[in-house]
Amino acid sequence: MRLITPLTFIIFLLFSITNVELTSSKDRFRIFIRNVASTFHANWRQHFVSERPFVKNRFKLTNNGTHYNSSDFIYPMILTVGSCLVHRNLKVARARYNFSITYVDILNMDYDELPTDWAYENKNTARVACRQVLKSVRQKRLFNRNLIEIISEKIYKAWIKRNAHRASNQLILPYKYLPENEKDKDRRAMLIACRLYNELHLYRYFRTTPIHLIEPSIE
Ligand SMILES: *[C@@H]1O[C@H](CO)[C@@H](O)[C@H](O)[C@H]1NC(C)=O
Ligand SMILES: *[C@@H]1O[C@H](CO)[C@@H](O)[C@H](O)[C@H]1NC(C)=O
Ligand SMILES: *[C@@H]1O[C@H](CO)[C@@H](O)[C@H](O)[C@H]1NC(C)=O
Repeated sequence: MRLITPLTFIIFLLFSITNVELTSSKDRFRIFIRNVASTFHANWRQHFVSERPFVKNRFKLTNNGTHYNSSDFIYPMILTVGSCLVHRNLKVARARYNFSITYVDILNMDYDELPTDWAYENKNTARVACRQVLKSVRQKRLFNRNLIEIISEKIYKAWIKRNAHRASNQLILPYKYLPENEKDKDRRAMLIACRLYNELHLYRYFRTTPIHLIEPSIE
């Protein structure tokens, strides 16, 4: 085996320190996104239920439902998506006459239960929010109404880009023409990112100040 000279060792040490720092800040950022995505989904469920107290489920098509065991689909039901067989857990359904079509009840699933395609949506929204919030706190921006609107618009624009193929025409409006309740969804993503930035003490790892929100929260 070749002897490691002190110089190589020092270079190696320097390299690994930088590497550790890089990975750990990347990991912190990943944790930040995960927490924001999960809280954003929980927050959406809460708002959805309080705005529509009579709606008990919201089944949506998923492209990742093949791993469910077919013999667990036992309850025949008519859902908003059509005639289905519902899984024992009541959170997954299959079209009665075509078992390759699977729906999941996103209203009754925690973030961790969501299939990858639906978790992906939340995660992307969270990623844009986290990136913008971190960038703004690093630039020492004032977290006022104006900044909330700027970031919410960016979150919305990124959403359009991902969903242009399936959004209804009403939602393809530019941000400023959206109804307030639609804008609130994007604002909440941003505000959740601000709150969690402080709660997870991320300002320590990213060496910034905590975020001081000037506007009252609408979460
Ligand atoms: C589908 O979901 C399962 C279980 O949640 C997961 O392990 C798998 O990676 C997913 N596959 C795809 C293609 O998304
Ligand atoms: C599906 O469930 C049935 C009945 O509970 C069981 O016998 C079978 O092994 C399961 N199949 C798989 C692939 O898990
Ligand atoms: C069942 O659904 C799949 C996916 O949408 C589709 O590709 C397939 O043609 C359907 N099968 C039948 C028999 O309708």
